[in-house]
Amino acid sequence: MRIGLIGTGNMGTLIVDALVKSKAAKPRCISVTNRTKQKAVDLAKKHRKLKVYSTPKEVLQHADIVFLCVKPAQFHPLLKSLRSDWHPNQIAISITSPISVRQLESLIPCQVVRVIPSIVNQSLSGSTLVTFGSSMTDLQKSKLWAILSQFSHPIEIDEENIRVASDLSSCGPAFLSYLLQKMIDGAVMSTSISKKQATQLTTEMVSGIGKLLEEQIFTLKQLEEKVTVKGGITGVGLSVLEEANNGAFEKLFLETQKKFKEDQQAADALFNEDLNK
Ligand SMILES: NC(=O)c1ccc[n+]([C@@H]2O[C@H](COP(=O)([O-])OP(=O)(O)OC[C@H]3O[C@@H](n4cnc5c(N)ncnc54)[C@H](OP(=O)(O)O)[C@@H]3O)[C@@H](O)[C@H]2O)c1
Repeated sequence: MRIGLIGTGNMGTLIVDALVKSKAAKPRCISVTNRTKQKAVDLAKKHRKLKVYSTPKEVLQHADIVFLCVKPAQFHPLLKSLRSDWHPNQIAISITSPISVRQLESLIPCQVVRVIPSIVNQSLSGSTLVTFGSSMTDLQKSKLWAILSQFSHPIEIDEENIRVASDLSSCGPAFLSYLLQKMIDGAVMSTSISKKQATQLTTEMVSGIGKLLEEQIFTLKQLEEKVTVKGGITGVGLSVLEEANNGAFEKLFLETQKKFKEDQQAADALFNEDLNK
């Protein structure tokens, strides 16, 4: 299948890298465009034979599947400008959560699906969160699923849980990296260990946890239990964490839901106009 991408920012670049690295697509089968064209040209220096076009319309003319990798506010003007350029059998893929599949369907006259990637897809791991549009055939679904499976573990997510699922899968790497940096800083400030050594030990530990989980040697709970010897040092540390946690993650998810509603309202203001037509 010929794959197209509109927007080669952080996520567009990540998807091209993952498609090529996983061999899901050869660079010559991928067409890209970016508002600032030089960004797409630079990406083609990394992946020789990648096709760079000047406009989104040209990408649509050369692709069966098109990833829309622009920011939420850039979707509506982009989709309006492309309204008459889609082919009914093409598949349009949005990678942004606040715009619902129904809203996308109101402006895209072909098959629609939402696929939320994660930065960890760059290492051909982690999930992609998939919400299919209403008219996709089983064959189209399975073709897309096969492509996503090359660089991720696709999981079907309904509209209701898209935010919390994205928080865990896509924002999770930032949340976890933040906590790990706090752990390193705490060690450096409270003891004589150097930042370099604390960072190395922590990085290797996290990488090891990833492998243990991937190989299903332990679950998260088992990992905690295995390391925690009754009356030992780990337990002392865990008690401090338990006390300091104080519902931090409950607050986090409430806040992300609140921000999500605001983003949805901004999208609604633009898309409802079209839905009501
Ligand atoms: N960051 C994450 O971990 C993550 C995870 C899952 C989903 N997402 C979603 O991914 C989407 C993209 O995020 P991002 O971090 O990749 O943003 P980004 O780095 O700003 O990339 C967006 C790109 O789209 C280009 N663009 C904007 N309008 C365009 C148009 N009309 N035609 C062609 N290109 C256009 C921009 O070009 P310029 O170079 O001219 O600005 C920019 O390079 C967002 O909707 C976000 O919700 C992000």
